[in-house]
Amino acid sequence: MLSTLLLYLSACLWLGFSSVTAAEDAFVTKCLGFGDRINLPHVTVNFASYIPGGTNLSLADSPPSCGESSQQVLTDTCRVAMAVTTSNRSQITLEAWFPRNYTGRFLSTGNGGISGCIQYYDLAYTASLGFATVGANNGHNGTSGEAFYKNPDVVEDFAWRSLYTGVDVGKKLTDQFYDEGFNRSYYLGCSTGGRQGWKMVQSFPDLFDGVLVGSPAFNFVNLISWSGHFYPLTGTSNASTFVTPAQWAAVGELVLDQCDGLDGAKDGIIEDPDFCFPKIDSLGCASNNTTTSTCLSDAQLHTVKSTYQPLRGVHGEALYPRMQPGVEAEEAYIMYGGQPFSYSTDWYRYVVYSNPEWDPLSLTSKDAEAALAQNPFDIETWNGDLEPFRKAGGKVLTYHGMADQIISSDISKTYYDRVSETMNLKSSQLDEFYRYFRISGMGHCGGGDGATAIGNQLTYLTSLDPQDNVLMALVQWVEKSIAPEFVRGSSVAANGSVEWSRKHCKYPEHNIYVGPGNYTDENAWKCVD
Ligand SMILES: *[C@@H]1O[C@H](CO)[C@@H](O)[C@H](O)[C@H]1NC(C)=O
Ligand SMILES: *[C@@H]1O[C@H](CO)[C@@H](O)[C@H](O)[C@H]1NC(C)=O
Ligand SMILES: *[C@@H]1O[C@H](CO)[C@@H](O)[C@H](O)[C@H]1NC(C)=O
Ligand SMILES: *[C@@H]1O[C@H](CO)[C@@H](O)[C@H](O)[C@H]1NC(C)=O
Ligand SMILES: *[C@@H]1O[C@H](CO)[C@@H](O)[C@H](O)[C@H]1NC(C)=O
Ligand SMILES: *[C@@H]1O[C@H](CO)[C@@H](O)[C@H](O)[C@H]1NC(C)=O
Ligand SMILES: *[C@@H]1O[C@H](CO)[C@@H](O)[C@H](O)[C@H]1NC(C)=O
Ligand SMILES: *[C@@H]1O[C@H](CO)[C@@H](O)[C@H](O)[C@H]1NC(C)=O
Ligand SMILES: *[C@@H]1O[C@H](CO)[C@@H](O)[C@H](O)[C@H]1NC(C)=O
Ligand SMILES: *[C@@H]1O[C@H](CO)[C@@H](O)[C@H](O)[C@H]1NC(C)=O
Repeated sequence: MLSTLLLYLSACLWLGFSSVTAAEDAFVTKCLGFGDRINLPHVTVNFASYIPGGTNLSLADSPPSCGESSQQVLTDTCRVAMAVTTSNRSQITLEAWFPRNYTGRFLSTGNGGISGCIQYYDLAYTASLGFATVGANNGHNGTSGEAFYKNPDVVEDFAWRSLYTGVDVGKKLTDQFYDEGFNRSYYLGCSTGGRQGWKMVQSFPDLFDGVLVGSPAFNFVNLISWSGHFYPLTGTSNASTFVTPAQWAAVGELVLDQCDGLDGAKDGIIEDPDFCFPKIDSLGCASNNTTTSTCLSDAQLHTVKSTYQPLRGVHGEALYPRMQPGVEAEEAYIMYGGQPFSYSTDWYRYVVYSNPEWDPLSLTSKDAEAALAQNPFDIETWNGDLEPFRKAGGKVLTYHGMADQIISSDISKTYYDRVSETMNLKSSQLDEFYRYFRISGMGHCGGGDGATAIGNQLTYLTSLDPQDNVLMALVQWVEKSIAPEFVRGSSVAANGSVEWSRKHCKYPEHNIYVGPGNYTDENAWKCVD
């Protein structure tokens, strides 16, 4: 299905490209001359080039740590690359991709981690769908946070200004490039991109008509502390508190055994980790007077149980929710692997303490509180009052994988409840502008064992039907006032064909298996309160 769709997309472009008309030449001419016509304060154009659809674009200038050396461009595109200064000691690198087959829609992409990497795969995706698309490097280059060191302006770019500036410049350029201007403005991002989207919703309510955000890294400073706290919790691999991958796998099996059936279906997928409270004492080496190769010492039991507890401050207050159960086996190689988590280490070294020698093994609740008190440029992104956004008529469609290994899905629920309480609105009222879908089995921004292809990225595209594609669902919501009641995800085989699908529910509803069909039959499931 995926490959069929890509074939279809490229067939469209090759057809379009081979029948070059005067009007299409005009597009190329306009593109190549566009750089010289740009005259905006703080903007320096690097180049404007025409990229025919089907090009395997070389990204030689992309920072090596970003790992993006090439990008398949799906549709005839005018690519404009710029530098935009944001202060006397900071700048962003910005790209605008203007598709020939334009739909009158503007869209900004976001970023990931603490990285300064333009997400070319998102630019290629949304440009191919007819959006005039921008993407920026978030104020620095590469995946390290070192650029933050003693330069708060780079931190400010990262907190909000890179995205905002890219949208401001991008909208002006879109107006200038297309005679007809643009009618609607959208955002698509996941992870840090999710936080960036929420930042705009909270602070710049008029910027977008529709915002699509996944696995958001909001509650950002606490998230940084939470992802950093696993290293001192597990210790290094020689510590008595460390739990081996084989032991985590045994924990994962037990958790699945206890929680998989809670949704009525033993299908290997925990639909709703909210109902899952693992009891792991039976894995203790002492519990049955037997020692197995994967039994846990008391110190190890404590380690495992702590992952199911929130990160707490010095007075016991919850700073960040627990890791959702069900990801233990994979986490053994990520958060629980006895290694520092680099984004967290970099934030503490280059922002919190301005000390490149700071030891990530020393992180305590006291550090977490110091970092939170600092909260530069309100990067926390935790304002629960969305009234200005609601008033402006904005729509936000958000999703989170229920098997997210990097950002616990509990945080999206926590925020939803916070908004509900702050604005004193029930979910039926929040539905007007804010809908949250929980995608069972999905990892961080995609992938996983469930029916997780929802069109949030090009890699996870199966269809442009709004019921199967969260971006198209958002467009339909904004432009036709047809709001999504569910998000259908698909499980895709290696050859690209859809194997089975499931309709994912809108929070606070959850999915249960009611039969009579197979677990893989989407109609055998029901969203209930
Ligand atoms: C242009 O986009 C429209 C949908 O917006 C689509 O129907 C059409 O096939 C596209 N044309 C080309 C040449 O890609
Ligand atoms: C694009 O080119 C790069 C090398 O420059 C290559 O590694 C990659 O496989 C190519 N991609 C496609 C889709 O052909
Ligand atoms: C980032 O890299 C680009 C080249 O890809 C360069 O033009 C720009 O100056 C760099 N930005 C910073 C902040 O170093
Ligand atoms: C940069 O601008 C700030 C004000 O935003 C000013 O305090 C600082 O002195 C300027 N630095 C340089 C090197 O011009
Ligand atoms: C914007 O909407 C108007 C009215 O619906 C329409 O006539 C116009 O073509 C649209 N412009 C673009 C760029 O799609
Ligand atoms: C673990 O190994 C490191 C060196 O790799 C050593 O510094 C540390 O003391 C060891 N810790 C324990 C608990 O043995
Ligand atoms: C001991 O092992 C049995 C089966 O191996 C298990 O069902 C039981 O829960 C264990 N007992 C305790 C106290 O952990
Ligand atoms: C484990 O052994 C101790 C003494 O050796 C005994 O008192 C206890 O009942 C045993 N527990 C189980 C679960 O067999
Ligand atoms: C793709 O693979 C599945 C099995 O994983 C198979 O049932 C299906 O026929 C294959 N489809 C194509 C188009 O090869
Ligand atoms: C669903 O189909 C699979 C594969 O055919 C089978 O193993 C399983 O038992 C079926 N489950 C239900 C609930 O019908």
